[in-house]
Amino acid sequence: MERIEFAKIVARAAGAILKEGYYSVKKIKHKAGKELVTQYDIASEDIIKEMIMLRFPKDTIIAEETESTSRIGEHVWIVDPLDGTNNFAHGFPFFCVSIGIANRGTVVAGVVYDPLRDEMFWADKNSAYLGNVRLHTSETDDISSALLATGFPYDIQASEEDNLNHFAHFSKAALGIRRAGSAALDLAYVAAGRLDGFWELKLKMWDMAAGSVIVEMAGGQTTTFTGEKWSITSDRIVASNGKIHKAMLKIIQGGL
Ligand code: IPD
Ligand code: CA
Ligand code: CA
Repeated sequence: MERIEFAKIVARAAGAILKEGYYSVKKIKHKAGKELVTQYDIASEDIIKEMIMLRFPKDTIIAEETESTSRIGEHVWIVDPLDGTNNFAHGFPFFCVSIGIANRGTVVAGVVYDPLRDEMFWADKNSAYLGNVRLHTSETDDISSALLATGFPYDIQASEEDNLNHFAHFSKAALGIRRAGSAALDLAYVAAGRLDGFWELKLKMWDMAAGSVIVEMAGGQTTTFTGEKWSITSDRIVASNGKIHKAMLKIIQGGL
């Protein structure tokens, strides 16, 4: 079985744990700043790692809640066991499991699974799908008609690099902005054409790995804030249908 097929099975198993947890009592702990973690982040990560290690023992796993390994092999699984923890902890129904698969440093496949809606967004190196249906990014080519999404960094109180300036400019330029609280799901929504674009900074590779390949394979574009092709070394991303990408970069770079 190919890794991407196995990733879908793993995401479903982890998603079932999250769905059950969502309707149960949660033990909520504070990490740094505004960041929360629950026992379900850990339980989801445990099952994901266990399943991958059993099936692909030579692969490397980089996962949010675990110390990262120093041995980076050819095949690397980049895992966010619960993207949107603050939503999950508050009973706001927007969160997912995100699993990217990288080959020698490039993300080649990924799944973003929303367990509440049972929506499996995924891509291999050729195309992107929601379930069995091919995904295509939107046709919107004018920023003033675009529905965009973003998020704010957990250190917003401590740092001046807080995305508020970009948010203000995009709010005036675009049709609307959503801040729903799961970067991976936001990216999947760009791939599905539900959103026309997304930008965010100070993210981790597990927030973006799977979503970025799904956007690219749906015909969209993912770059850094300076316009280079997005890679796992970047902590920020601009993702779009391609047609409004230049306009988004111009706003981000202050050209407005
Ligand atoms: C967070 C979400 C959120 C984004 C944060 C991420 P987490 O991931 O993706 O939308 O704004 O920057 O860290 O902590 O829920 O896995
Ligand atoms: Ca995350
Ligand atoms: Ca997480």
